[in-house]
Amino acid sequence: MFLTCCPNVYSMLLKTQINFIDNEIILSLDLQPPYKAILKKDFLHIYKEEEPLFSLPLSYPNLISWQFKRDLVGFMINNTTYFTDQTYKLKELLNGKLFFSRIQDFYTPLQVLGQGSSAKVLLVKSKHSDQYFAAKCVEKNELMYQEIEINNELDHHAFVKIKEVFQGDTSYYIIMDLLSGKNLQQLIKNQHVGLTLEQTQKIMHALLSGIEHMHQKNIMHRDIKPENIVLQKNNNLTTLKIVDFGLATYTTLKKYKYPKCGTPGYVAPEIANLTDKDTTYSSKCDIFSAGAEEMYFLEQALTLYYHQIRNVILISRFLLQRKYHRISQELVQKMLSKDPKMRPTATECLNHEFFTYYDKPTSAQKKTFFAQTRAATLTVDFSSPEEKPEYKGSFVTNDIVPQEYGMQKKNTKFNTTEFDQYN
Ligand SMILES: Nc1ncnc2c1ncn2[C@@H]1O[C@H](COP(=O)(O)OP(=O)(O)O)[C@@H](O)[C@H]1O
Ligand SMILES: [Mg+2]
Repeated sequence: MFLTCCPNVYSMLLKTQINFIDNEIILSLDLQPPYKAILKKDFLHIYKEEEPLFSLPLSYPNLISWQFKRDLVGFMINNTTYFTDQTYKLKELLNGKLFFSRIQDFYTPLQVLGQGSSAKVLLVKSKHSDQYFAAKCVEKNELMYQEIEINNELDHHAFVKIKEVFQGDTSYYIIMDLLSGKNLQQLIKNQHVGLTLEQTQKIMHALLSGIEHMHQKNIMHRDIKPENIVLQKNNNLTTLKIVDFGLATYTTLKKYKYPKCGTPGYVAPEIANLTDKDTTYSSKCDIFSAGAEEMYFLEQALTLYYHQIRNVILISRFLLQRKYHRISQELVQKMLSKDPKMRPTATECLNHEFFTYYDKPTSAQKKTFFAQTRAATLTVDFSSPEEKPEYKGSFVTNDIVPQEYGMQKKNTKFNTTEFDQYN
């Protein structure tokens, strides 16, 4: 048995593994006689004695069942088993295009990495390559197809790549890149002294860069919040990834599946106050959520800032911090505008002074700044309530899940029967 296709395609396949470069035919796969499989862009065609027998569209919810006899030896479609010794290659080409069966043949679960409102995320080890991945286990629901489709469209360092998707008895398993850091909610909880403004700046810059990419692709996330932002490496804030596209949708749709969704405290007012389920809104809802998140971080930074004051920090540093704090609050207030049209786009946010100020105050700027504020330093009342930022966002209602619409996110108990010990 061997792979046959035009030589340049074959060599590229070997190098890059998955690449739809040819117009139509990618490769043909000689199965056990009398069968033959031809993989095209959107179909896997099976031939018997050169006659077309079956065409499997490469799309969800179609399923390929893999055959194991100690190792991967073949696959099954429509109750017919096709044996081939090139199944790993075939499987790689089909990754992320349709469902696979029997995750337990491919991965060993090791521990629970996280638990959200609709899913459980497990650390798994590949039985084939000894590599580690994250497996998001979700109760079966049709919204999953959109979550995968949207995730697959994003090609930016702020997002994880989906490797493959398995179907179990009651769950789907999305195998994706493993993030070994914490999510931002856990990070803040564990960080006793709070986040500094510089850390907030790094996080917000990386987050807004991801949001900018998403919005350019007409995708809105609709659930931006600290739990859905995970660090790839714990000690590097710029490695953050935006996860969880369970509520994401295309902004271009005339009607959204779950128009009223999100998380209290982060959901934009135009969504929280939505009364007509046919109303659409813009991707600016993510800017509001990012603003609410930034406000949360600034609250942490503020704690640290007052802590530093109590410990008598250098007055020059304090002044720079104070000015910086005002700049950051100005950006947050814009992002939290009740009217979505008044909110800046992600690109506009990234061009805000908040992202350049701290890095680059020139000595001349510092001189002017200190000259101007010298008098003020003598009269600053450190405990004055005016020093605290005015927190907006209290207009976000908690009434976000009307019963009549139903909603995807719910606390569910479901069986990941394929991984028995993690039920
Ligand atoms: N690729 C990943 N690697 C490591 N941990 C992850 C990964 N994806 C998600 N998590 C963790 O699992 C938690 C739940 O995942 P999420 O996709 O947000 O599920 P839900 O839809 O239930 O909210 C996240 O808050 C995060 O801590
Ligand atoms: Mg989540």
